[in-house]
Amino acid sequence: MFHFGVDYYPEHWPEERWREDARLMAEAGFNVVRLAEFAWSRLEPSQGTFDFAWLDRAMNTLARHGMHVVLGTPTASPPPWLMSLHPEAFLVRETGQRVSYGNRRNYSPTSAVYRDYSKRIVTKMAEHYKHHPAVIGWQIDNEFGDRDYDAPAFRSWLERRFGTLQRLNERWGTAFWSHEYGDWNEIPVPLATAGVPNPGLALDFARFCSEAYVAYQRMQVEILRKHCPEHFITHNMMGFRYELIDYFDLAYDLDLVSWDNYPRGFWNIAADVDPSTMALGHDTMRGLKGTNFWVMEQQAGAGGWDLVSVMPKPGELRLWAYQAIAHGADGIVFFRWRTARHGTEQYWHGLLDHDARPGRRYHEIKRMGQEIARVGQTIEGSSVKARVAFLLSYDSRFALQIQPHNPGFGYAEQFQGLYRALHARNVAIDVVAPSADLSRYDLVVAPSLYVLTAKTAEQLERFVEAGGTLLVTPRSGVKDDANAVVELPLPGLLARLCGVVVEDYDSLPVGRSNALEYAGVEGAVGSAWCDILTPHGAEVVAHYGEDYYAGQAAITMNVFGRGRALYLGTLGNDVLNDALVARLLDLAGLEPGPSEVAGVEVSERWLGGTKLVFVLNHTESEQVVTLADGVYHDLLADRLVEGELRLAAREVLIVQAEAQA
Ligand code: GAL
Repeated sequence: MFHFGVDYYPEHWPEERWREDARLMAEAGFNVVRLAEFAWSRLEPSQGTFDFAWLDRAMNTLARHGMHVVLGTPTASPPPWLMSLHPEAFLVRETGQRVSYGNRRNYSPTSAVYRDYSKRIVTKMAEHYKHHPAVIGWQIDNEFGDRDYDAPAFRSWLERRFGTLQRLNERWGTAFWSHEYGDWNEIPVPLATAGVPNPGLALDFARFCSEAYVAYQRMQVEILRKHCPEHFITHNMMGFRYELIDYFDLAYDLDLVSWDNYPRGFWNIAADVDPSTMALGHDTMRGLKGTNFWVMEQQAGAGGWDLVSVMPKPGELRLWAYQAIAHGADGIVFFRWRTARHGTEQYWHGLLDHDARPGRRYHEIKRMGQEIARVGQTIEGSSVKARVAFLLSYDSRFALQIQPHNPGFGYAEQFQGLYRALHARNVAIDVVAPSADLSRYDLVVAPSLYVLTAKTAEQLERFVEAGGTLLVTPRSGVKDDANAVVELPLPGLLARLCGVVVEDYDSLPVGRSNALEYAGVEGAVGSAWCDILTPHGAEVVAHYGEDYYAGQAAITMNVFGRGRALYLGTLGNDVLNDALVARLLDLAGLEPGPSEVAGVEVSERWLGGTKLVFVLNHTESEQVVTLADGVYHDLLADRLVEGELRLAAREVLIVQAEAQA
C-alpha cells in the first residue's frame, strides 16, 4: 500500500474534535498518521506513572477511519519533571554552557540517566502497542542532532578508539604547541572558548558526536526489534543539508529511511525554491540504504516560529510531494494536520489553519489523495535507476567544517553546484558513501575527498580502470584518517589516477575569480580556490586566464585503464559546471534526460522493464513538453497521450511507457 498521510497531535486538541479530524483525514485520502513523538509528558505524566489510555482512544478513532499508525518514541522532548530531577542530562553547548529547560532536542545522548529513562518509556510503549492492529512502524525520536560538548563521554570514546595515549598523541601530532596529553582527563572538547582546535581532535570530536546518536538510536532499535518484530523502524532525518551526523551510519540500523522536506520552510530560504535542492535531499536519503524511503514530514503550509515564511503557492504542496515520489518516496506524510494554537510552532502551518476550516491547502492534498488512491499501487515498489553517483564523505564534510579554507569554499555548496548542473539535464543520480560498490555506475562525481583512505583511493582506481569516468575536485587527498596532511604531492593518493600534481594553490579573496580558458565555453570562471596543476600524463582541458598562473592547467583529464579521471582544480560557476557536466556525460556514454525545458524536471522510476516518467513543472507558467516517440498512459488523467503536451504552472504529469529496447 502506498502510504499517504499526516502528522497528528491529538494531545493538542479536545477529544471531541478527534472524530471530525479523522473523518476529514479519511476524506483527504489519508491512510497513515504519525503520532506521539513529542507526547512524553502525557505518556508518563510523573516519574514511573504511565498513561496510554488517551493515545489508545485517539488511535482507535483514527483506526476506525482507516488510518495506520507510525508511533514516535517521545525522547526528543523530555518532560519537565525528568530534567528537574536530572539537570545533568542536558547537553552542553559549544560555549561550555549546559542547556536549560524550555525547548526540545536538548538532552545528552550519552547521559546514562537519560538513556535509562528513554529505555523505560520506549519499552513501555513497545509492550503496550506491540499487538495494536493499527501500528505499522516506529519513528525513533525526532531529527537527531546538536553536538554535546560533554567531556567525560568523549574521553571514554577516545580510549576505546586509540587504546593508548601514546597512539592518540602520535595521530593528532600533539607535539605541536606542547599539547601532549599524559592523562585521559587532560583531553579537552573543542569548546569555543579554547579557540581554533587541533584538527585531529576536532575531527574525532565530530565523529564522536555523530556516533553518540547512532548508539543512542541503536539502544531504542534493540528494544523495538525485540518487542515489535512485525513493525518497521525509522528515524526522520533532515536530508542533504544536515551535516552533524553521518547519516550512512545512522541509517545502518534502520529498516526504513525517512526525512523531513521543507522547501519553503524557513524564512531565509523561502523566496526562491530550487527544485534541485529538494531533489538532492531525496537522492541523498535514497542513497543511505540504496532503496526507497518516506517523507515523514512534507511541508503542508508556511513555516514559522518567530518569522513566518512564504506561503506555498497553489499547486506547490502537491508538486513537491510528487517530486519526492519521483525520486523514490514510497510514503508521504504531511506536517502537520492542523496549525497549533500554542507553543513555539504556532505559525508552522498545517494543512488546516488554526480555525480548522478545510481550505486551499487541504483541497489540494485531497485531490492528490484521490489520485494516490488510483495510482499509488502502480508506483509503489518501482525504483530509480541511476548510472551516475555522487560520493558523499561525511569525514571530509566534518573536516572542512573545521577548516573551511576560504569563506567561498563550502563542501555542501560545491556538491550542490555540480549536482544542480546534472539535475538540470534530468539525469538520475545516486548519492552514495565513498565505500559503496561503484561497479554499476558509468560516472562518479567525488567532490573534495579531503579526508581520503587508501581503500577509497584504490576503489576509485578500480572504478576508472574498468572504464568509469571520474571527476575529482579541489582539496582531494589532502588528509589522512587522523586529519593530518599527507606527505605526498597532492592530490595525494589520487595523483597517480589523475595523472596530475597540484604544484601550487591560491585561496582567492572574497568576490574575486579567475577566468578560465576552456575551449568554446564563454564565461567560465573559478572562484574561492585555485589548484595550479602540472600534468603528469594527463591532458589539459582548461587553463587559468589570469594572475601569475595564467596559462597553467585548471582542469585535466587522464586516461587510466579503460576509463578516465578528470581533475577540476577550482570551484566552477554555473557556466563551467554546466559545460563540464556535458563533457562528463559524453565521456561516460550517457544521454542527458528526456526533456530540457528549464524548470521542468523529468524523473523516472522503473517497474521491471516498464518506466514511469514524472514530468514536474516547477515554473510559474505553462510549459510545452515533448514526449519521446510512442503512446503513453497518462496515469493521473487516465488517458492515452503522445507527442507535445501542455503542462500548466506547478502541474504534474506521470506517464507510463513500455521500455524501449
Ligand atoms: C521539523 C520537526 C518538526 C517540526 C517542524 C517544523 O524539523 O521535525 O517537529 O518542528 O520541523 O518546525
